[in-house]
Amino acid sequence: MASTKRIPMIAGNWKMHLNSKEAADLAAAIRKGLDADLKHEVLLAPTFTSLHAVKAALAGSKIILSSQDIAWEEKGAFTGAVAPSQLIDAGCTAAIIGHSERRKVFLETDEMINKKLKAAIKAGLVPVLCIGETLEERESQRTYRVLETQLIGAFSGITAAEAVKVVIAYEPVWAIGTGKTATPDQAQDAHVFVRRQMERVYNKAYADAVRVLYGGSVKADNVDELMSQPDIDGALVGGESLKADKFLRVIHFQTVLTR
Ligand code: PGA
Repeated sequence: MASTKRIPMIAGNWKMHLNSKEAADLAAAIRKGLDADLKHEVLLAPTFTSLHAVKAALAGSKIILSSQDIAWEEKGAFTGAVAPSQLIDAGCTAAIIGHSERRKVFLETDEMINKKLKAAIKAGLVPVLCIGETLEERESQRTYRVLETQLIGAFSGITAAEAVKVVIAYEPVWAIGTGKTATPDQAQDAHVFVRRQMERVYNKAYADAVRVLYGGSVKADNVDELMSQPDIDGALVGGESLKADKFLRVIHFQTVLTR
């Protein structure tokens, strides 16, 4: 089964929470609580201002440090933006791109997300590309069309070889921070669709290998069921990643399937 080759990833998106000391303490507590033989990848995405402190707290560990956003230019007059090389300088090896909050609150378009994805790839960062439909889009049966548009837009002009490190996070907007999780079946269906779409964009080998995380109210008490779905390769976790004990339980999920 192809899924056995996909290494699960559990990612914590701390959004605009925690000062640098709190972030470093949380990172240290998560690091301390990891099983020594954990095979999954763990990623932490603090705010820009906490990157240095978290990097120090993670020094020597395998935990991946990620930004929550990235600029598509390398330098210049872009007030407020942070360039790929600056993220690398701060210790990042990954970048979250196109989170629904960036799309909705900061009006990021598929075109901007495409440029960010290209910039992250060029810099050698692991992009965690977020896609997902709003409640209105789901209720008007447009979920798949929206996901298709977002994926085609994001990967435009990028080859399969260039896209090899990309991790996709399917995050239904209506499930983010609402306590409403997609049912495991709803998530599995969307993940299968994403994989099929990536087969169309690239090829079957790519689609079988790409990791698709689920995000949206993932909690310690629903992660096992979600991670038991064959096409869910991990989780992008917001609120629950701010509590070390809960997030550690998410990281150490248990599935009923052999992966
Ligand atoms: P949530 O956020 O887990 O708090 O719903 C997920 C996300 O926005 O990545």
